[in-house]
Formats: sequence, C-alpha cells, structure tokens
Amino acid sequence: MRDTIAVIGATRGTGLAAMQQLIAAGRPAVAVVRSVEKARQLFGDKASVVYGDVTRPETLLEAIDRDWAGIVFTVDITGGIGGRGLFASRERIRAVMYGGLVNTVEACKQRGFGGRVVLLSTIGLTQPSIGMRILNWVKPGLRDHSLDKGEYLKKSGLDWTIVRAGILNNKPAGQHLLDISARDWPLEMRYQISRADLARVLLACVTHPAVGRRELSVFWDGPGHDSDEQLAAKLAALAG
Ligand SMILES: NC(=O)c1ccc[n+]([C@@H]2O[C@H](COP(=O)([O-])OP(=O)(O)OC[C@H]3O[C@@H](n4cnc5c(N)ncnc54)[C@H](OP(=O)(O)O)[C@@H]3O)[C@@H](O)[C@H]2O)c1
Repeated sequence: MRDTIAVIGATRGTGLAAMQQLIAAGRPAVAVVRSVEKARQLFGDKASVVYGDVTRPETLLEAIDRDWAGIVFTVDITGGIGGRGLFASRERIRAVMYGGLVNTVEACKQRGFGGRVVLLSTIGLTQPSIGMRILNWVKPGLRDHSLDKGEYLKKSGLDWTIVRAGILNNKPAGQHLLDISARDWPLEMRYQISRADLARVLLACVTHPAVGRRELSVFWDGPGHDSDEQLAAKLAALAG
C-alpha cells in the first residue's frame, strides 16, 4: 500500500482527472467517495473504491489507510445551483470545505497516517481582486473557509502541500507550460489552468521531496508542455 494514492473528491472535476491519470499510468489508486455506485460506474474495477463522506467523521476513520503514500484532497461543495453549490448557505459550504478537511485531518491523525496530504486551494486568498469578491459572494465565506482549511492542515503535524490553483477550466491537458511559484496571485482571468493539468501537479506533489510543508501557486504560462522532468524541476526550485 506504500505506493497507493487516495483521492478524496474523486468523482468530479480535478479529483476525477487525478483518478483517471493514476489509472492510465497503472498506479494503485483509491477513490474515497460518498457515492460508491457513481465511483464504480466511473472506474469499474480499475481502482479501489471506499465509502467516505467528509461531513461524517466516522466514515473517514473506516476509509483511511495509514500506509497510503498520500491523499489528494479536492473536495468542494456540489449540487444545487450550477452543480457547484452556488449560493448555498455559508454554514453548508463551510461544513464541506473547511469541516471536511478538519474531519479528514483528524481521521488521518487517529489512524496514524504517515503520508502527505495534498490540499487543493485557490490563488487570490491573500490578494485583493474583484474575482475573489465575486467568488466569495456566490459561495458565501469561501475565502475564510479556504484560508482556515489551509491553516488547519499546516498546524496538523501531518506532512502537507497546499496547491493554490488559478481559475479552473475543463480544456485539454498538456498544451501549456506551467507557472509554479511560492507567491500568491490575485484571482484574475489571466491566471487559469485546466483541471487535468492541475491534477498532474497535485499527483506530483504527493511524493516530490521539495514540496513537503510548502504552499505553491500554479496556473498556465504560455503554450508548450512541461515534461515530467521539467515539472519536477519547477517543484524542486521552490525549495530555493
Ligand atoms: N472553480 C475554480 O475556478 C477554482 C479555482 C481554484 C481552486 N479551486 C478549488 O478547486 C476545488 C474544487 O475542484 P473541482 O471544481 O475540480 O471539484 P468539483 O467538480 O466541485 O468536485 C468536488 C468533489 O468533492 C466531492 N464531495 C463533495 N462533498 C463531499 C462529501 N461530503 N464527502 C466526500 N466528497 C464530497 C464531490 O463528490 P460528488 O461527485 O459526490 O458530488 C466531487 O467529487 C475546491 O477546493 C476549490 O476551492 C477552484
């Protein structure tokens, strides 16, 4: 189980892309999901599937294996308006975005999990922008929930990486160079990345030695493609 990567948030978006990349590479993968049926339809028998709802701590205690290499956490509120929980109550959004991470961290600690938690977050939490104001309006409290989940993970005592992504899209992977840096950036349309390219970065962060206990920002640079070696070098450069 030492090579196994678990994805929480595996049935949609960035987490689904991460699962698809693990499966395509023939790497051992576990999807921690609140709908086992949906996951089975997506992954068949090509990945392990375990039940885990991040708002129900007892299910995470059952799901988490202390020997996984890492957990990629891409959970976000879904359902409702736009399928993305738009205009849900602040409390509901916080229960998933922040509470879900807290419950996962606490379950990891109780289970003696020794791998790395790679947390998907967003750029612009510390940089004023109209984009963040709009996002914080359509998803009430998003900025606080995101900042708080990052701080909770950092103080957890677990190994962690926080990946702050630019604005997400569903365009194809592999057609852009990646800008990876330690600094935060305002949430503006010029800083975008596809979920598939982001998933690749999240997976690389599980094992890369330079990014333990580090925060990084990532979004598309110009046209091109970073090889695995170039991506690893960009992550290594963060250690400065
Ligand atoms: N949107 C942007 O432009 C943007 C920019 C930067 C960063 N981000 C960050 O990206 C993340 C979202 O990524 P995304 O849009 O690719 O994801 P997404 O499509 O919203 O998928 C979220 C996943 O979380 C799962 N989930 C929701 N509630 C759950 C629960 N109680 N227990 C277990 N799993 C649960 C969902 O499962 P179901 O399939 O069962 O619903 C789904 O698989 C967020 O952390 C957000 O802050 C977003």
